[in-house]
Amino acid sequence: MTIFIENALMPSGKKASILIEGNKIEAINPKEKDKGDVVIDAKGKAVMPGLFNMHTHAAMILLKGYADDYELHEWLTNHIFPVEAKLRSRDVYYGTLLACIEMIHSGTTCFNDMYFFEEEIARAVEKSGMRAVVSKALSAQSYKRAEAKKAMKKLSGFERVIPALGPHAIYTTDEETLCDVKELASELNVLIHFHLSETKKEVEDCLKEHGKRPAEYLADIGFLDSKLINAHCVWLNRKEMKLLARSDAKVVSCPTSNLKLASGIAPLKEIIKAGITTTLGTDGSASNNSLNMFETIKLASLLQKYKHFDATALPAKQAFELATINAAKALNLKAGAIKEGFLADLCLINLKHITMVPNHNLISNIVFSAEPACIDTVICDGKIIMENRVIEWEEDVKEKAQRIAEELVSA
Ligand code: NI
Repeated sequence: MTIFIENALMPSGKKASILIEGNKIEAINPKEKDKGDVVIDAKGKAVMPGLFNMHTHAAMILLKGYADDYELHEWLTNHIFPVEAKLRSRDVYYGTLLACIEMIHSGTTCFNDMYFFEEEIARAVEKSGMRAVVSKALSAQSYKRAEAKKAMKKLSGFERVIPALGPHAIYTTDEETLCDVKELASELNVLIHFHLSETKKEVEDCLKEHGKRPAEYLADIGFLDSKLINAHCVWLNRKEMKLLARSDAKVVSCPTSNLKLASGIAPLKEIIKAGITTTLGTDGSASNNSLNMFETIKLASLLQKYKHFDATALPAKQAFELATINAAKALNLKAGAIKEGFLADLCLINLKHITMVPNHNLISNIVFSAEPACIDTVICDGKIIMENRVIEWEEDVKEKAQRIAEELVSA
């Protein structure tokens, strides 16, 4: 199947036509015109690469607004973990699909997830048409090597799913678990998705228990690696940044979640300057409370400006790259930009939406003005997954997820 997009405004500010063949961008401004099976007239629309949400617990959308305004450790221990203990596989399937609806509507085509019932997440990804890293959530108690190995094999059978191991954090695992997970990830050549240095308490506890800071501890046990994706990294110091940079481990900043849980403002400017591949995520929408990457990109930029009293600290173009090309690089995907040979994961933006008028600079408008309602059509892996703001299966999933969410929190 081929799709031909005509007359779209590109991020460069020039108009172009794009030919999609299979799941890739075959040509930009092809010589022969109008050769697609499907022709999209993108007059009055701009095209951008689909956004990457690099840290989610998608199914937690079911708990959005259920327990707000608590400090992270109390929030997790007393409010989230007890409800999560009641989760069934069907809940995770519909919860993940509900999250996919919100992500597609806000221009995200790929997300990096960590949760339980990973096969249900993968089924939801297949149904949604999106692309995702599906990480099996692990703790010292739940980790069993044979089981994890089997899960990675199963996940690799799903379309557009990248399997990963998801040991939760330093404080929910131990050295033995982390070393074994690392060994297994190397053996199977899969990614590791981890929470690192999210709160000051995590750093203080790590210093007390191990006599060193979290990233130093991970370096010493041989856990740092180019396949390691670290969410948060709010409290990294310069020495820890050097350790991450040297090992080519990746960082995902989640500014909205860090603000909501009062975890702090990540030293993003310094992390980027240290040469670390840096990306952005929302975190689960119970601690955000949305999956809107436009908001996250804008906040990431504004917070660095504020933190450094410097309006040039994280400019629009760089902030946009964190959520597109940098994320693709972190996942080793040829995606995140509109180039020949790259994956056809694209969004069409309605330039007549009020937040896009006037349009002096498309990237500035995307980063500082856009909202989900600007997103008109979404293509992932060469297939249209939302057209003119319509996702065909949306209403049914919203209804089912609402019922499931109510059941979960009722005693
Ligand atoms: Ni998280």
